[in-house]
Amino acid sequence: MFDPYEVRRDFPILDRRVGGKRLIYFDNAATSQKPIQVIEAVSNYYRYYNSNVHRAVHTMSQEASQLYEDAHEYVARFIGADSYREIIFVKNATEAINLVAYSLGLHEFGEGDEVLVTLMDHHSTIVPWHIISKVKGFKIRYVNVTGDGHIDMDDLESKLSSRTRILCVPHVSNVLGTINDVAEMAKMVHEVGGYILVDGAQSVPHIPIDVKKLGIDFLAFSGHKMLGPMGIGVLYGREDILEDMEPFLGGGDMISSVHLEPGVGFRIEYNDLPWKFEAGTPNVAGAVGLMEAVKYLERLGMENVHSYERELVRYAMGLMDGLDGVEVYGPRDPGERAGVVAFNVRGIGGHEAASLLDDYGIMVRSGHHCAQPLHDRFGITNSARASFYIYNLKEEIDIFIDALKEIVVVSSEL
Ligand SMILES: Cc1ncc(COP(=O)(O)O)c(C=O)c1O
Repeated sequence: MFDPYEVRRDFPILDRRVGGKRLIYFDNAATSQKPIQVIEAVSNYYRYYNSNVHRAVHTMSQEASQLYEDAHEYVARFIGADSYREIIFVKNATEAINLVAYSLGLHEFGEGDEVLVTLMDHHSTIVPWHIISKVKGFKIRYVNVTGDGHIDMDDLESKLSSRTRILCVPHVSNVLGTINDVAEMAKMVHEVGGYILVDGAQSVPHIPIDVKKLGIDFLAFSGHKMLGPMGIGVLYGREDILEDMEPFLGGGDMISSVHLEPGVGFRIEYNDLPWKFEAGTPNVAGAVGLMEAVKYLERLGMENVHSYERELVRYAMGLMDGLDGVEVYGPRDPGERAGVVAFNVRGIGGHEAASLLDDYGIMVRSGHHCAQPLHDRFGITNSARASFYIYNLKEEIDIFIDALKEIVVVSSEL
């Protein structure tokens, strides 16, 4: 097991105070903090290596290109992809999902086709498919979520058909924390000839992932939620599918040639994978930072990360369940969830609860967490959310629970 106290020493931000209180950062599902190794990797890149990639023969461009390509290799290995050709660097999970929606949906889907999205999905999945369905006329169907916070597998089964072109599903819900059985869902959708796009924004940072063992076609995730910098994200795609897909954005580096053919127009050949999907100057420093984040997580071991977070969530839920006036959403069994706990305090909204917790130096997110259909499903408009990561401690959860107890009393007097 890794030692969370030792891990904490790598995160300079954890030394800061908020309103005179020691910082307790429980907003890791929104973005994680960065270890000194990542901060230094980004800073060293700009200090010693900064140059554009894939564009010049000079030494610095060669070095920057090598770093950028190494980052693809590291990420490929981290998630069990066959090769770097299956790893496309984008801005974030949102852009990764948009890439699939535009490259597949806009070019290949049409009237009579169906896209399945779950009620647990983030707006970054729901909205791109909605936009493209308006243009192409395919139908979006929603898979229900059960009262105990799981995807309703019977409902999924009943909605799968030969019309299903793709199933979009979060690996881990950013509200309920539910870990979904995406391997089973991949089998189900493949049987009807559809693809599966897994939103890994809340799983890749927290649980061991092997895309080949899961049997999934696409996986989207963000670097900033897994110790890496903001502005870098990843789309994993199965190589044979990516080969056949149209590009998302056009521009420099995603082509191998562009020529004017008189009487025809421009004759354009696209570049090899993954560059065909990486138009324009990329975020090289972000890629270098992400590579360092991957190295950091690999040193800890993703099995250790997962089991430590499970311990934290079990501890937190055990204490929260005993609190009168606090409602926790999602699966009751902590073994079925990742380190995300959404809750409400009776009599006050999520924002009020979060702002009262802020007075104790505790950072939690509040609102609809970009999952309004899911909140509608549970008949609530918002919630507060505590989400844990490798540097959080049981002692911090104790402080959080004591603060919640006081907030319950205050809110009952309002
Ligand atoms: C499940 C899920 N999907 C997608 C996203 C979007 O991530 P980003 O804003 O980094 O694109 C988030 C972010 O909170 C998320 O939790």
